[in-house]
Amino acid sequence: MSKNVKAVILAAGKGTRMKSEKPKVLHEIFNKPLAGWVISACEEIGSFENIVIVGHKGEDVEEFVKKNHPQSVCVYQKEQLGTGHAVSMAKKELEGFDGLVVVLNGDIPLITSKSLKKFVDFHTGNNADVTAMTAILDNPFGYGRIVRDENDFIKEIVEQKDCTEAQNQIKEMNVGMYCLNWQKVKGFFDDLKNNNSQNEYYLTDIIKWANENALKTYGYVLEDSNEAFGINSRVQLAEAFKIMNDRHLNELMENGVTIVSPENTQISPETEIGADTVIFPNTFINGKNKIGKNCKIGPFAHLRGDCTIEDFVKIGNFVELKKTYVKSHTNICHLSYVGDTNVGSNVNIGAGTITANYNSITKEKKQTIINDGASIGSNTVLVAPVELGKNAFIGAGSIITKNVDANSLGLTRSPQKEIKNYVK
Ligand code: UD1
Ligand code: CA
Repeated sequence: MSKNVKAVILAAGKGTRMKSEKPKVLHEIFNKPLAGWVISACEEIGSFENIVIVGHKGEDVEEFVKKNHPQSVCVYQKEQLGTGHAVSMAKKELEGFDGLVVVLNGDIPLITSKSLKKFVDFHTGNNADVTAMTAILDNPFGYGRIVRDENDFIKEIVEQKDCTEAQNQIKEMNVGMYCLNWQKVKGFFDDLKNNNSQNEYYLTDIIKWANENALKTYGYVLEDSNEAFGINSRVQLAEAFKIMNDRHLNELMENGVTIVSPENTQISPETEIGADTVIFPNTFINGKNKIGKNCKIGPFAHLRGDCTIEDFVKIGNFVELKKTYVKSHTNICHLSYVGDTNVGSNVNIGAGTITANYNSITKEKKQTIINDGASIGSNTVLVAPVELGKNAFIGAGSIITKNVDANSLGLTRSPQKEIKNYVK
């Protein structure tokens, strides 16, 4: 489907209700901006060359897009005159494009690629020209409402602020995602009007326009209305975090991972975990990670991303890991920081071991390599770059700045003194 689908992601708004210096779509859930979740969902259905409409602090959004979604382009909307106006900014980029344009608000991070695919299939299956994604909510306050006719076709979308008393009672809301047959609907964007209570150029008016122009218009109802959640405030950001987390924890448990206390555990959806691994309470796992089978993680463990942990590994309390590969049957059980490190198998890392991976003067990070079978005594500092050979043994309290050979003892501890009868 990729060739003929392009997504337009709306990410130009300021997000006034966030009360932030940062544009709304760059606020993060699990290390990833709201817009990032939306763009990733598009990529998962095979749409990579997407158009991101940026405006408020657009350079910051563009920087994120360039770095993380290099096949997408950013188009500037200098003044944010509304969602319809935002899409019209993509007209030049879409010149001659004869496919399907999926428009998505950039502030809907809970949308899944599974639903997005069903949505696109629904649109193409019905030979529709315009399809709006909708959801049924008990309390749709603040969202646009879906007005249907007696045959269940969508007549129009009316914003909360423009609703009549009767329209206010409608429970079906507008998610902010649309499938558009571009060639059929592009004329709408030459015809934009802003005669509404907010004096904005609404994208939602496209439904009425499509009906007036005898186009085929449909509404696709989301199965899980949680996915429709649009973030406008910090409170909603926290709610979305919780929903995303719960969803992932449930999925992990369904797949054989034990999560002792789900209410005290946060695991990024970009983290895979193998069966029979146990996650103990108060563990926070951020970013992309891969954890194997039969591991024990936590309590109070913190994984900060880019970690791969093989099977039968123990990561204990107050252990922080970042950009680290840990091979099987290794223990890092207490009070340690291990970053930018390759740890072999059957390694034992004693309590309070720190990899000093960062030089704050040069701002450089350096690698530590710990080979199979090494054993590190408590309270050791490994000053990177440094390598411990196979089965190397490090005495407790050492500060290791030079490589240690296989099967050798590395020790920097000063000898213990004893002064007899000192106390007297
Ligand atoms: C919009 C919909 C509403 C829907 C809701 C779902 C319109 C008119 N209303 O309302 O029907 O129920 O989303 O969450 O479309 N943006 C721009 N440029 C602009 C204005 C907005 O890029 O000029 C972007 C924002 O950054 C945001 C998205 O569009 O990512 C939605 O804008 P927002 O102001 O949050 O729309 P809502 O009022 O929530
Ligand atoms: Ca919104």
